[in-house]
Amino acid sequence: MARITASVYTSHVPAIGAALDLGKSNEPYWQPVFKGYDFSKQWLKDNKPDVIFLVYNDHANAFSLDMIPTFAIGTAAEFTPADEGWGPRPVPKVMGHPELAGHIAQSVIQQDFDLTIVNKMDVDHGLTVPLSLMCGQPQAWPCAVIPFAVNVVQYPVPSGRRCFELGKAIRRAVESYDEPLNVQIWGTGGMSHQLQGPRAGLINKEFDNDFLDKLIADPAAAAAIPHIDYVREAGSEGIELVMWLVARGAMGDQAGGKPPKVAHRFYHVPASNTAVGHLILENP
Ligand code: DHB
Ligand code: FE
Repeated sequence: MARITASVYTSHVPAIGAALDLGKSNEPYWQPVFKGYDFSKQWLKDNKPDVIFLVYNDHANAFSLDMIPTFAIGTAAEFTPADEGWGPRPVPKVMGHPELAGHIAQSVIQQDFDLTIVNKMDVDHGLTVPLSLMCGQPQAWPCAVIPFAVNVVQYPVPSGRRCFELGKAIRRAVESYDEPLNVQIWGTGGMSHQLQGPRAGLINKEFDNDFLDKLIADPAAAAAIPHIDYVREAGSEGIELVMWLVARGAMGDQAGGKPPKVAHRFYHVPASNTAVGHLILENP
């Protein structure tokens, strides 16, 4: 059977991708950000999965106001980096896993979650920046990736509670797949940030660190945070954090197993307009 061995959580700021792509990662502004991922790059080499189930949000690149799926699973064999206005990032194509993605779609829909099945889509910085942070700049990404897009851009957005329950359903789906695959689940986006309006530039270290504490030790409490509290406390784009709850819900302790081990924790303010948070949790 396939297993979820670990979950990874990270912010996805587009300027991080640009810093890497333009060779600026050693500049004093960026150095402390990338330093927080030195451990993680080695960890990923030492703990290479067969598949990453990557929970992220699209920023009106693959989807638009024409069509707004709340939860969309990428079932294609490959996904091309999106053109976000200044050309696609010069990163490898993302190779999917149609068989596992199809199985997860079947299982999760039968567990009463409505997923949109997407057989063709481009992937933006929401997906490629976490891959770059964790993998550096390889010729090819180290494994297959199943993109799982959550709408946190256009209201109404899903609650943290629903995202957490969805994660539990994804775990059951993965663990009923009849092939011994090592699967990691990544929850991306966040932490606190607001990109527009009078509060543009808002960052809330206290909220973020409390969220990290809760996510590790009491994820049900994090899942109970109502949508409006993210907006008030973590800024309008802080709502991206609900995607971390999908990954956390998929960890073994939520199905009667032991609590996860914290392999790595990192927090840095700011990167562009955003608080960068990062966690690696391993299933014992
Ligand atoms: C920034 C952060 C985001 O999450 C995003 O999607 C775009 C920009 C920023 O901090 O600049
Ligand atoms: Fe974003």
